[in-house]
Amino acid sequence: MKQLEGKHISKTYEEAGFFTTKRKVALKPMDIAIDNGEILAVVGESGSGKSTLANILGFLYAPTTGHIYYNGEEIHYPLSHQIRRDIQMIFQNPFTTLHPLHTIRKSLVEPIRFHQVVKREKEEDYIKNLLERCRLPEDILDRYPSMLSGGQLQRVNIVRALSLKPKILIADEIITALDVPVALDVLELLKDLQKENHLSILFISHDLAAVRKIAGRAIVMKNGVVLEENSVENLFICPKSAYTKTLIDAIPKL
Ligand SMILES: Nc1ncnc2c1ncn2[C@@H]1O[C@H](COP(=O)(O)OP(=O)(O)OP(=O)(O)O)[C@@H](O)[C@H]1O
Ligand SMILES: [Mg+2]
Repeated sequence: MKQLEGKHISKTYEEAGFFTTKRKVALKPMDIAIDNGEILAVVGESGSGKSTLANILGFLYAPTTGHIYYNGEEIHYPLSHQIRRDIQMIFQNPFTTLHPLHTIRKSLVEPIRFHQVVKREKEEDYIKNLLERCRLPEDILDRYPSMLSGGQLQRVNIVRALSLKPKILIADEIITALDVPVALDVLELLKDLQKENHLSILFISHDLAAVRKIAGRAIVMKNGVVLEENSVENLFICPKSAYTKTLIDAIPKL
């Protein structure tokens, strides 16, 4: 079943100057649907509009045109608490997403309290359980972000998102800043979590090798246009667009 759907969504950024307003069409009108429990990848070169699409589907800002539907119902601003909770985003740079002067505990507790996920006396257990599932030691709770590695921070971001029991996770280049072994570990974790929690994941990446490991379906973008939509299996066996083929050929061969 279609869980999150964008119909005819597009985005034109406007930058106001002194005399003129510059317009940048980052996303041409497109349709996209994420099915219940699937991992859908979005690939494409830098500037192709991947983050723009992610931010629109994560409701960071409204599209210039088009409509978004969640479980078949059109979503309007201001967003309900439920939507804010159900759809969680994780971003590329783990070093900037957590408050530098807050302990990890504080950063984890805040959203749980805001959304009243568990009673206060259960918070500690709840968080420790999630840390364990994301293979993080408990002693990081009293540390500050600067005292963690990039891979650990990204896992903290995953814990933070998961703590709200989301239905959809939007992951925008979340392994790009990580070393290969750490990145593989995070990919494995995401895959496990998707299976255990029946999460839907929008996995944004320019890394086709990572996409192949994790996603079932993919869309390929260039210059704000969707060039191809395919199962990941077919994407590699018989890509529909010449551009996809060049992306595949560019994957480093070990
Ligand atoms: N706030 C903004 N104002 C003006 N232009 C923007 C803004 N954000 C993005 N753009 C432009 O829109 C286009 C698409 O950007 P977007 O960030 O969606 O690409 P991307 O595919 O995520 O790239 P990357 O792989 O580098 O993250 C780019 O040309 C970018 O410069
Ligand atoms: Mg981006």
